[in-house]
Formats: sequence, C-alpha cells, structure tokens
Amino acid sequence: MLKKILLLAGVSGMLMASDGASLFDAKCSMCHVTSRPSDMSTLVAPPIMGVMNHVKMNYPNKADAVKFIVDYVQEPSKSKAVCMPQKIQRFGLMPSQKGAVTPQELETIASWMYDNFPPKGFRGRGMGGGMGQGRGF
Ligand code: HEC
Repeated sequence: MLKKILLLAGVSGMLMASDGASLFDAKCSMCHVTSRPSDMSTLVAPPIMGVMNHVKMNYPNKADAVKFIVDYVQEPSKSKAVCMPQKIQRFGLMPSQKGAVTPQELETIASWMYDNFPPKGFRGRGMGGGMGQGRGF
C-alpha cells in the first residue's frame, strides 16, 4: 500500500501506463473487485478471479485470452461472453469501455489479468447460485 502511494506520488504517467495493476485499478476496479468480497450482494460485476477462471476455460492460450478481453471490453455482447449466462442476467451486460481505455492499455491489463488471476488455489465456488456447471451453449 505504502509502495503504491509512493509510486502514485513520485512517478510519471509513463510508468503508470505500463503497469497492468495500476491500469486495472484505474479503469476496471470500480466494477470488478480483485479479492473475494465478503458480501456478494454488493457487487456490480463478477469479481475478476471468476471472470478469468471462465476466460481461461475458453481461451487457455494467453494470446487468445488477451485478444478476447481486448475485444470484449470494447464490444461486449451476449454471444461473445464466456461467463455464465446467469451473471449477465444478474449484472447486465458489461457497458463498453471504448474511449475510457485504449487498446494498448487493454493489452497490458489483459496480460496482467491472465498472469495473476485466478490466484493459485482458487476454486470456483459457484458465485451467486448454481454457477458452477454448464454454460448453456
Ligand atoms: C461499469 C462497470 C464495469 C467496468 C468499468 C468494467 N466492467 Fe467488465 N464487466 C462488467 C459486468 C457487469 C460484467 C458481467 C456481464 C458481462 O459479462 O458482460 C463484466 C464482465 C467482464 C468480462 C467477462 C466477459 C464475459 O465473457 O462475460 C471481462 C473479461 C471484463 N469484464 C473485463 C473488464 C476489464 C478488463 C475492464 C477494465 C478495462 C472492465 N471489465 C471494466 C462491468 C464492468
């Protein structure tokens, strides 16, 4: 935490922009939490470890996963979504972040997400009811 504050205070935007964690914080974390919340009912979007769990199930290869995320964030659609249909039902489709984040920033964010989530030892818990099975394709 202290390290992060020092970073924010002392370092130019250049470095910030190359850091997936900071970019995620700035562009995505208002909706996607990065740790398992104690109260699921306050969420406005699926936590990122659950998202990445599903992304990796569908796109195990990093290049494919990054490509998917970069595209989805700019043009979300039900037919592309890899998360459980119930998630879209509960949270609604993700609003396009086009304009809020550049494709280059998205590549950095997506790569960081792929490398860090789900964290080691993660076991899908079926968040929000019956979400462990079948995607209904
Ligand atoms: C305004 C809130 C909001 C913001 C900001 C947001 N998201 Fe989302 N995101 C959602 C919601 C809601 C869903 C679940 C519905 C869906 O999948 O479309 C979602 C789903 C996703 C998914 C899963 C897509 C799937 O297959 O269903 C990915 C990947 C994702 N977000 C990445 C990101 C990234 C990366 C950022 C930051 C650049 C971001 N989101 C910013 C609300 C948000």
